Amino acid sequence: MAPALALLVLLAVAVSLAGADDPYRYYTWTVTYGPINPLGTTQQGILINGQFPGPRIDCVTNDNLIVNVVNNLDEPFLLTWNGIKQRKNSWQDGVAGTNCAIPPGANYTYKFQAKDQIGTFFYFPSLALHRAAGGFGALNVYQRPAIPVPYPPPAGDFTLLVGDWYAAGHKQLRQALDAGAAALPPPDGLLINGAQSATFVGDLGRTYLFRVSNVGLKASVNVRIQGHSLRLAEVEGTHPVQNAYDSLDIHPGQSLAFLVTLDKPPLDYAVVVSTRFAAANLTAVGTLHYAGATARAPGPLPPPPPGQFDWSLNQARSFRWNLTASAARPNPQGSFHYGTIPTSRTLVLASSSSAVLAGRRRCAVNGVSFVVPDTPLKLADNYNIANVMDWDGVPARPVGGAPPRAGTPVVRLNLHEFVEVVFQNTENEMQSWHLDGYDFWVVGYGNGQWTEMQRQTYNLVDAQARHTVQVYPNGWSAILVSLDNQGMWNLRSAIWDRQYLGQQLYLRVWTPEQSFANEYSIPTNAILCGRAAGLPH
Ligand SMILES: *[C@@H]1O[C@H](CO)[C@@H](O)[C@H](O)[C@H]1NC(C)=O
Ligand SMILES: *[C@@H]1O[C@H](CO)[C@@H](O)[C@H](O)[C@H]1NC(C)=O
Ligand SMILES: *[C@@H]1O[C@H](CO)[C@@H](O)[C@H](O)[C@H]1NC(C)=O
Repeated sequence: MAPALALLVLLAVAVSLAGADDPYRYYTWTVTYGPINPLGTTQQGILINGQFPGPRIDCVTNDNLIVNVVNNLDEPFLLTWNGIKQRKNSWQDGVAGTNCAIPPGANYTYKFQAKDQIGTFFYFPSLALHRAAGGFGALNVYQRPAIPVPYPPPAGDFTLLVGDWYAAGHKQLRQALDAGAAALPPPDGLLINGAQSATFVGDLGRTYLFRVSNVGLKASVNVRIQGHSLRLAEVEGTHPVQNAYDSLDIHPGQSLAFLVTLDKPPLDYAVVVSTRFAAANLTAVGTLHYAGATARAPGPLPPPPPGQFDWSLNQARSFRWNLTASAARPNPQGSFHYGTIPTSRTLVLASSSSAVLAGRRRCAVNGVSFVVPDTPLKLADNYNIANVMDWDGVPARPVGGAPPRAGTPVVRLNLHEFVEVVFQNTENEMQSWHLDGYDFWVVGYGNGQWTEMQRQTYNLVDAQARHTVQVYPNGWSAILVSLDNQGMWNLRSAIWDRQYLGQQLYLRVWTPEQSFANEYSIPTNAILCGRAAGLPH
């Protein structure tokens, strides 16, 4: 929830303890390998119910989603729900720190609610670079009829999962990283909904909502539509000021939605997705087809943005929260003045991809490279199993000179703390950071080294709220986050080789007061593994 309004949460708890009155949607998803052909040659993909990408979930705010995932791969498997906040329910987050992997041949039923959310999200496999082979899909949360969104109902909506793609399989890519490769090689292609092309059909004179998520491993992309302007309508579940753009940058892990009015001569127009800032310039070209059109629009494909990082950074700064737009909650967002709340602490997280540990190249955050423990952190915390995590095992600020080390850091934070986190990029490539369980206000982007002086430049009025923020090369991004969601939450690089190589950690948001109003108890069907195996639920 963008404006994480503690008071409202308390009120909401009283009326909807477990969401029992809200509708249920049931899914059974069988995960298999199967042949796919996205780049023109057959390769092994990860399919859900035979589909690549996986089935799209269309649901409504507060729906209960019951997803029984049957793992028929030869490797342990988990799905995570990107941007779904799992309110009070990190048990369902589906990352290695919260859930035991579903063993081959076994199943696990996720049970969660799209609580208080409206917007464009997606799911993807969180383990073992499975995401490089597929297993991802869209998750759209529509508003309830009584809740207005700040734009007239579109004539329809289109969902675009865009992202880079590799000809090599996930096991081969993983072996390269495990063997100490510096990073994944440049991708081989760019996909829209699992193919290099896609067609979106609309009627002349009507307006459509394009929902776009970057599900790729590491490439930032730019999206544009020949001859048409893109009116930004939603960013990761919050409503921005509806600026018009010629094109939009979308970084790994991010989602946004824009409105397009079909107000041009009825023809076919190119929908172009291209990589940004990358060693290889990759492009996928789809079609916006005006119903009945029989010819392509004349002229060249729309060009990429005229600038690189500075252009992109300026666009990022132009994303502003619409203070008067309502959200999933009935109150106006503007009643929550995040800029006036004192922060209780600051974390400055500097990432590096040059740590060498045991002869292998790893990624680290403030000198600590995350190692996935044998027992999920959430279970270790629940059962008080010692020596699984390193409580507060990462410095709150970068430490110069200390040699990098391996660890499993969990930062202990108190429920309802209000925290500043600065992501410091010390390298020459684009980064993207994601926090599970929350969204946060992106109060600043800058070049160079962050200092406390930069706080004077923060947007403390109408910063965009989102769950994934890009960090420009040798620059920083600063966020404020209201810790109103108790649980064990993954803070990670959304650049997937970096995440895999250790650029991640966990935040444990907690209060000594045990209450189901703050957090649900362990699900009765939770898989127990590692040192939690065999313990009672
Ligand atoms: C596995 O699926 C069965 C139904 O096919 C269900 O009864 C069972 O609860 C599922 N297991 C888990 C751990 O969710
Ligand atoms: C913000 O939302 C309000 C309420 O829905 C809407 O009327 C207004 O046009 C939006 N403002 C901008 C600048 O997008
Ligand atoms: C990719 O395209 C950009 C923008 O058109 C250009 O500046 C850059 O040199 C290109 N890079 C390569 C490797 O072709």
